[in-house]
Amino acid sequence: MLVSAKEMLNKAREGKYAVGQFNINNLEWTKAILLTAEELKSPVILGVSEGAGKYMCGYKTVVGMVNGMLEELNITVPVALHLDHGSFEGAKACINAGFSSIMFDGSHYPIEENIKMTTALVNTCDVLGISLEAEVGSIGGEEDGVIGAGECADPNECKAIADLGVTMLAAGIGNIHGKYPENWAGLSFDTLAAVKEKVGDMPLVLHGGTGIPEDMIKKAISLGVAKINVNTECQLSFAAATREYVEAGKDLQGKGFDPRKLLAPGFEAIKATVKEKMELFGSVGKA
Ligand code: 13P
Repeated sequence: MLVSAKEMLNKAREGKYAVGQFNINNLEWTKAILLTAEELKSPVILGVSEGAGKYMCGYKTVVGMVNGMLEELNITVPVALHLDHGSFEGAKACINAGFSSIMFDGSHYPIEENIKMTTALVNTCDVLGISLEAEVGSIGGEEDGVIGAGECADPNECKAIADLGVTMLAAGIGNIHGKYPENWAGLSFDTLAAVKEKVGDMPLVLHGGTGIPEDMIKKAISLGVAKINVNTECQLSFAAATREYVEAGKDLQGKGFDPRKLLAPGFEAIKATVKEKMELFGSVGKA
């Protein structure tokens, strides 16, 4: 059964580790992430962007697929199904479809609007036992057509949003979706510490987990980050493994064109990436 991310993130914050959110795109992605979490006895969050939701034929299809896998694969670790960077309409649609966790990303609205729209979702999520992530200070880079400038959040605005009763808060600290450019200045730990000071015990979320150096990840966790989102890194490892298979001509040998064979190296590559991240984040054995 899907669970809210609340308990797993509160435990992570107390235990000074982070739970990974890994974005899914299809059946192979979902199966690879769930099996790795189960093997490593790690809690896990499956992230679904609005674009990926559309690609997978809508939120109901996603909920059906994930619930089916939890049962058929005998997954016993806590799993949350989470809308990533949701619009207000998207959030409502995912609540209705059976997601157990929602992100409403109001970071591109003026703070008063962000507060108003986040407030409108707090009660519904509370009543239904769904965790709710809010965002202040947009994350840099481009994701599904949503372009952010990589701002550093205003700690007072973070407090205003945290006080609304959300479950977890994503604050921009100079992080970027996708690969980091050569001249990236790194995470702003001053901003993170100032946000933490204002929001107290609320679990903080670090987006743009791809390519952040290990020492920065560890420092971010020590400063209150309890959820780290990874998307691009699984895409890159899947693509590299698939490329290797095709370039080696394996799709032309025997039944190598069978999708169950063709997609197998990419599937294994996702598993390896997820394992590496769970070990780095410290969530192994915490389920
Ligand atoms: P990356 O694609 O950079 O790993 O970021 C993922 C993310 O933050 C999803 O919200």
